Amino acid sequence: MSKLVVVDHPLVQHKLSLMRRKETSTAEFRRLVKEIALLLGYEICRDLPTEEVEVETPLEVTKVRMLAGKKLCLVSVLRAGNGLLEGMLDLIPSARVGHVGLYRDPATLKPVEYYYKVPSDIADRQVILVDPMLATANSAIAAVQKVKDSGATEIKYACLLAAPEGVKKFHDAHPDVPIFTAAQDRQLNDHGYIMPGLGDAGDRIYGTR
Ligand code: PRP
Ligand code: URA
Repeated sequence: MSKLVVVDHPLVQHKLSLMRRKETSTAEFRRLVKEIALLLGYEICRDLPTEEVEVETPLEVTKVRMLAGKKLCLVSVLRAGNGLLEGMLDLIPSARVGHVGLYRDPATLKPVEYYYKVPSDIADRQVILVDPMLATANSAIAAVQKVKDSGATEIKYACLLAAPEGVKKFHDAHPDVPIFTAAQDRQLNDHGYIMPGLGDAGDRIYGTR
């Protein structure tokens, strides 16, 4: 599997473009995050293993394919990750859910941890970490390390936007974890924001600014 998957489906690109616009309202932004999460999730799940099982339709018994292999665990990086989490849970309702509470110190751009709770059997599950923004990647690297420390070995990382600097740093730290994103933007600015980006994802989802 490629280590950076840019999901360039027209629906994803259209929704992302609407989210970038500064006049997009909080309610619309939140709805779009949820919709785009469904579409990203569809792509992330493309390689899930299936097995042949027998079912009985109203007409006859037949062999069909159903999901097999490790169960899934979605892990949201608080708080903006919860926007993506909602849409992904609509797609995979039986997934277990973990939370990593991190915020980025605005001066140092280093992540500060304030919460961590994941299912006790996370080591037996495939993990999909969700956070809309991969900027310096400091938060993502720390979040992946936390779930690895809990025993997870099969991990995918999903975001809306990634900066090239963050992608490189992330892959240097966790070369085994593929990144799924709706777009790779131009660069980081001096404050560690993705350019052109969409601003502060948490503020835009929750209207806190
Ligand atoms: C944002 C975003 C990521 C992080 C990305 O969270 O949701 O977690 O910044 O930046 P980085 O790649 O440079 O670490 P933020 O710290 O603003 O917290 P919030 O989700 O609580 O708003
Ligand atoms: N966090 C955000 O929410 N936006 C950015 O552009 C960078 C970090």
